[in-house]
Amino acid sequence: MKGLSTSRVFITGAASGIGRATAQRFYNEGSNLVLVDMPTEEESELKAMFPERMTYLQADVTTKVGLDKIQEQVNLGLDVFINNAGITRDATVHKMTDDQWDQVIAVNLTAIFKLSRMAAIKMKEQKSGVILNAASVVAHYGNFGQTNYTATKAGVIAMTKTMAKELGKDGVRVNAIAPGFIGTPMVRKMPEKVLEMMEGKAPLRRLGEPEDIAAAYAFLASEDASFITGTCLNVDGGVVLG
Ligand SMILES: NC(=O)c1ccc[n+]([C@@H]2O[C@H](COP(=O)([O-])OP(=O)(O)OC[C@H]3O[C@@H](n4cnc5c(N)ncnc54)[C@H](O)[C@@H]3O)[C@@H](O)[C@H]2O)c1
Repeated sequence: MKGLSTSRVFITGAASGIGRATAQRFYNEGSNLVLVDMPTEEESELKAMFPERMTYLQADVTTKVGLDKIQEQVNLGLDVFINNAGITRDATVHKMTDDQWDQVIAVNLTAIFKLSRMAAIKMKEQKSGVILNAASVVAHYGNFGQTNYTATKAGVIAMTKTMAKELGKDGVRVNAIAPGFIGTPMVRKMPEKVLEMMEGKAPLRRLGEPEDIAAAYAFLASEDASFITGTCLNVDGGVVLG
């Protein structure tokens, strides 16, 4: 895609699922990757998958130490920052603990704010850059057991619009993607009945693949999307249409 080759692309939560597929997609496009994730056994696998044009940062995006490591790399310049890392800690509202609330807010919302701020400062200086944020279709219609998660994803969409308004004059675009039900390893482990229900909700009658989301990130990062900012692109097989 136009403008991705040789671009310097940061992806958080890159060791698994959508993040990993996105890393693969940008690598195939010729980008230079800075991949961020928690300490994980997947690190050596990623190093084998991306033998060149890749820097791996073991960093927890909720800690100062983690953010400092990322800052060092951001100081060297960047073209695209993808805030993909996200977690769930599900419970119905009357059973949800403060910890479950705080953990999800820390990863899915506060870290995205801090990393977007970090990227925005450098991108404003450069007068160019793209920030992409992971939302979710559940931001649009709520989801049982996910008061914390849905609040963060709706927050991400609102932050994306505000940052797009503020940064547009400096040549910086900010967009979000709202994936539907994506067949990441975590989702594929769910009972057959739940998977069938998820497929049935989508007019396209299938789960999405991590590669479907990766393709959308690549498009929004590319010059083909140079007039798109402040949007949240649903990549969900039509689930949100109801
Ligand atoms: N899979 C889906 O169906 C789906 C649907 C809608 C939205 N999303 C969103 O897409 C994103 C990726 O989802 P996924 O299914 O690929 O998830 P995943 O669990 O497979 O991967 C998330 C990655 O983020 C990393 N991570 C978690 N906390 C971190 C932290 N504090 N610091 C650094 N890394 C951290 C994890 O180690 C993991 O590698 C998430 O933001 C998720 O909310 C996923």
